[in-house]
Amino acid sequence: MRRCFRNHAFGLLLLLLLSICGLLPSIQPAWAEPAVYNARDRIHPTFARNGMVSTQDALASQAGLDILRQGGNAIDAAVAIGFALAVTLPQAGNLGGGGFLLTYDAAQRQSEAIDFRETAPAAASRDFFLSAKGEVDEARIRYSHQASGTPGTVAGLALAHQRHGRLPWKTLIEPAIRLAEGFPISAELAQSLQEARKSMTPWPASMKIFFKADGVAYQAGETLAQPDLAASLRLIAEQGPKAFYEGAIAEKLIADMAAHQGLITLADLKNYRAVVRTPVRGVYRGYEIVSMPPPSSGGVHLIQILNILETWPLAESGPASAVTLHRMAEAMKLAYADRSEYLGDPDFVKVPVAGLTAKAYARELAARIDPNRAQPATAIKPGQPQRYESDQTTHYSVADQDGNAVAVTYTLNLAYGSGAVAAGTGILLNNEMDDFAAKPGVPNAFGLIGGDANAVSPGKRPLSSMTPTLVFKTGQPVLITGSPGGSRIITTVLQIILNVLDHQMNIAEATVAPRIHHQWLPDELRIEEGISPDTVRLLTGWGHQVVIKEAMGNTQSIVRTPQGLYGFADTRRSGGLAVGY
Ligand code: GLY
Repeated sequence: MRRCFRNHAFGLLLLLLLSICGLLPSIQPAWAEPAVYNARDRIHPTFARNGMVSTQDALASQAGLDILRQGGNAIDAAVAIGFALAVTLPQAGNLGGGGFLLTYDAAQRQSEAIDFRETAPAAASRDFFLSAKGEVDEARIRYSHQASGTPGTVAGLALAHQRHGRLPWKTLIEPAIRLAEGFPISAELAQSLQEARKSMTPWPASMKIFFKADGVAYQAGETLAQPDLAASLRLIAEQGPKAFYEGAIAEKLIADMAAHQGLITLADLKNYRAVVRTPVRGVYRGYEIVSMPPPSSGGVHLIQILNILETWPLAESGPASAVTLHRMAEAMKLAYADRSEYLGDPDFVKVPVAGLTAKAYARELAARIDPNRAQPATAIKPGQPQRYESDQTTHYSVADQDGNAVAVTYTLNLAYGSGAVAAGTGILLNNEMDDFAAKPGVPNAFGLIGGDANAVSPGKRPLSSMTPTLVFKTGQPVLITGSPGGSRIITTVLQIILNVLDHQMNIAEATVAPRIHHQWLPDELRIEEGISPDTVRLLTGWGHQVVIKEAMGNTQSIVRTPQGLYGFADTRRSGGLAVGY
């Protein structure tokens, strides 16, 4: 006994010495958790033991929770939510758009990305959206039937279900069918529909659904019934994705396209495939970051910015200090400059993912950052990574009792996409073609510029910023997160991660903390209300062009701890709900 103690004591002494000499990595508990409670907290997340969903719409959250309670897994709930949001959140939830799903299968201990981004129709070409004068025709690329890429959502949800689902497909669409028969309009939706009047007015099929007979707007609390959408959902429930890509829905979609000089043909629909991709991975302060690979730029630049920031002790400089915000802004600029040059659909262009996410490249970029001076955007050019080896999007997160995790971000691009519904289907059409670089150097609706890598080409997927993300500690998913927000998605997700990991905030505090954003061009440091005036003064003094604009992002996040799940739906828009059981 005594000898055993002596051996043990000797072992501990040796470990201590090695650790003091820096010869051991820092000793982590088996499961280092993100903080869930601090005595200083003013806002708290929802807690549940078994399963949880967080979405931008309470009715969709309820649909997902019901599926979990019925014994569905996280993918089943994610599929049900995807269909439900197409009904209750028509500004972003969709059948006529596309997006990305990231999942962790606990039994297989494997993460997988499903890419259901829209593709350019076969009739689209590089200069298709330029006017006779060679300028980008913004009306055509944003608010016409030609603005639509071939939709991917139905194929994506079906592929996710086929690979990982447990409950029958039909069961997962039932909640959406019920909601399409009529649901009470929220205050947020009533206001959003008012704002959509301009983009919908040219399309009688849209006005018929989203406004009353005489063009009068719906009020909060009134019922919105979408019988055509309910019929489309029933067909998809009974016949599977074929109904959408080859059957009765496809026929109506194509007829509507033909009637409005749209580009999508039956062949485009039949040829559409959702794709399984390997997620992009990085490590940040011992946590593994798993995120969406190209054709989203989200994961690559999230990891690139985290790698740069890892070179500084952000916890010491604090969450909203000028020093921290300066470092963040400078890192963001460098990443967005690279985005404009290197990112595009990996099936068409070689994207230097490994180079952009390499620690060595991040150290090189960090060394270029002046601690006391903002680099003007004009002084920044895309870097040299080692070569090649809407705002109106929506995100939701799901965790189930088996440890599975799902993060989905999908979109029509701008609110209600092009504003047009394909007559007889109840389905809003996306305007995702605007995410291509229609002309090199000319900004899209989000002010993003791009070049050859993101030029229009038939069958190609436009570059995205959607960043559904999972964060792991010792192999366990500890954070599921993502956001809408166009070009601001990457930096919004970044700040959730920094707030949770560096600043030890609970997920509610991490969500409501004021955000910043810089995307290289335009050369402005965009901030939300809530950053102190003296911080702004310091940043301005260091050369930042600080502008306060409207709130950014709408994150839906879940933190998993050994005690259970903590979720929070962003309060920047009303109507979201994190709920569990
Ligand atoms: N449509 C916005 C994005 O995909 O980034």
